[in-house]
Amino acid sequence: MNHIVCQHLTKEFAKGAQTIRPLNNLSLEVPKGQFLALMGPSGSGKTTLLNLIAGIDTPSSGSLVIGGQELMGLNRGALTRWRAANVGYIFQLYHLIPTLDALENVELPLMLQTMGRKERRERSMAALDLVGLKERYHHRPGELSGGQEQRVAIARALVANPELLVADEPTGDLDRESADAVLKLLNSLAHDHGKTIVMVTHDPKAAAAADRTLHLEKGVLVEPGTSSAA
Ligand SMILES: Nc1ncnc2c1ncn2[C@@H]1O[C@H](COP(=O)(O)OP(=O)(O)OP(=O)(O)O)[C@@H](O)[C@H]1O
Ligand SMILES: [Mg+2]
Repeated sequence: MNHIVCQHLTKEFAKGAQTIRPLNNLSLEVPKGQFLALMGPSGSGKTTLLNLIAGIDTPSSGSLVIGGQELMGLNRGALTRWRAANVGYIFQLYHLIPTLDALENVELPLMLQTMGRKERRERSMAALDLVGLKERYHHRPGELSGGQEQRVAIARALVANPELLVADEPTGDLDRESADAVLKLLNSLAHDHGKTIVMVTHDPKAAAAADRTLHLEKGVLVEPGTSSAA
């Protein structure tokens, strides 16, 4: 079953008299539980595509069906609610709140839901346990290593139990060893927990940890080994 089906997606940004079109008639299918790596030069539209898939931004035209839900028809409020329940977003620079400890950071997405304090705590602890940070509940971001901070951020992306995780260069700021630990974790989330993962990366080693790699070139996706000639 395909978790993500993008058809004829185009995204344009108007900048004064100029129109930038990072995505041009792009189509993509991602099966449920696949760990997909997305590569491509700087400015090729990787983050733009990730933001469409995550429901953070909307396409100029085309169709985008995720987990059976057509996103094009949703208004802003409905899209925000859909995102909170269905997507976890992981950033290169973690985006943790420095004054909150690990547990409090992980709890944040659950504040958007009606949920008692006790359940919130329990789910956040379970998410931190899953990423291997049982011993770090009460450490603040400044008291964690980069790799640990990224694992807190992954726990935060997971805590609402979304089926889809999107990650924008999640290992871009990590040393090799921490990067490998994060990649192993993402791999296990796909293969042992059935999460669909779309990861943008510049690192061929990170891409090699995924099930499949696609390259974004001139607004369309190219699978390595196939011709990019239109
Ligand atoms: N909000 C926006 N308004 C106008 N142009 C934008 C906007 N967001 C992105 N762009 C343009 O769209 C193109 C694609 O940007 P995007 O951020 O998707 O690239 P990227 O592949 O993620 O690059 P990088 O690897 O450097 O992160 C760029 O030319 C960028 O300048
Ligand atoms: Mg980017």
